[in-house]
Amino acid sequence: SAAKKVTVVGSGNWGCAIAKIIAKNCARHDEFQNEVTMWMFEEQVEHRGIKRKLSEVFNESKENVKYLPGKVLPDNIRAEPDLKKAAEGADIYVWVLPHQFVPRTVSSMGPVKEGAMSVSLIKGGLELEGGKMGLCSDVLRKLLKHNVSVLMGANVANEVADEQFCEATLGTDAPEKDQNLLVKLFDCATFRVRAVSDIAGVELCGALKNVVALGAGFCDGLQFGSNTKAAIIRIGLEEMTTFIRHFHPSVKDSTFLESCGVADLITTCFGGRNRKCAEAFVKAGGKGWVDIEKELLGGQKLQGTLTAQEIWPIIEAHKLTSRLPLFTTIYQIAFEGKDPKSIVSLSPAIEDAN
Ligand code: NAD
Ligand code: 13P
Repeated sequence: SAAKKVTVVGSGNWGCAIAKIIAKNCARHDEFQNEVTMWMFEEQVEHRGIKRKLSEVFNESKENVKYLPGKVLPDNIRAEPDLKKAAEGADIYVWVLPHQFVPRTVSSMGPVKEGAMSVSLIKGGLELEGGKMGLCSDVLRKLLKHNVSVLMGANVANEVADEQFCEATLGTDAPEKDQNLLVKLFDCATFRVRAVSDIAGVELCGALKNVVALGAGFCDGLQFGSNTKAAIIRIGLEEMTTFIRHFHPSVKDSTFLESCGVADLITTCFGGRNRKCAEAFVKAGGKGWVDIEKELLGGQKLQGTLTAQEIWPIIEAHKLTSRLPLFTTIYQIAFEGKDPKSIVSLSPAIEDAN
């Protein structure tokens, strides 16, 4: 069958890093068209003292000077600022936007080709829909009316862009030939992909670990050491399990041991942006999240704070606060002025949970 056209929807820090892998794979595998289109949300940047369009600078230099500076991407990636043009005629869409921009973006992209499919790399976007947990991939599935897989893992973007070895988990229910195609699109010697059938488990791990990372960052802000952080990671994993099992009893235990589970939780709690901003939140005492995000991330987006706000009404509605004392405390520290030190006084509720 004809070579597949791949469009990456999003070109931030992770969007650009994964586009590098995708473009190399498209160049070496006959199953894909060589050129990869990357939709770039257009903005003006100051480049070498001149105001320029981000996409123009990218197409000249193959460097996203704002979101992944210093890394040159392969020649066969073309940035397209017009969403409709970028999306037109694609066979495979790779979604990699901060989750708050997803509904608006999908609804303005125009019709998609019959038989196309998507894979979402987006960590976040949870809401209650008629008593059931709605995922970001559900939103994409509903709007696009085609098969949607997810790819999550311990993948801090800058390290992936440097081609340091890591792994990722593809959650998919696509037909076997499409699963193999998706693995081929992402897998390489330094980015090992394993497919599992547990889409909800994979995606929920990716979203919830960002909330735990806020807790890890609070600990760093309080200057606690690695024992304390390890405890937060362990409790966090336990609460991720409790939360996910509550809404998706069919989640597989093995999912938590994949890259999307324990490995992503660990890397995010040590090397992620959520951790970094949460540390600053404690150290700067009283500064708001919007300012911290702006000052520390230079346009990149925090997902854990939004996810904490998304899951809070869900936790309350399902009366899960006593079973999720860490998630509850992280929300209260982040948004209700609770003392950050309370992150280490969870014990009674944790005993109740067992
Ligand atoms: P990012 O944090 O770098 O976000 C900035 C991106 O958002 C830019 O491309 C910007 O152009 C775009 N943007 C800004 N305003 C917009 C608008 N109104 N509409 C559409 N786009 C807009 O993005 P990222 O790091 O690529 O993250 C995307 C997803 O990937 C997130 O869900 C994140 O959790 C996940 N992820 C990130 C990493 C990482 O290390 N950065 C790793 C794995 C997964
Ligand atoms: P942050 O968004 O906290 O940087 O996490 C990145 C990530 O998802 C690593 O896998």
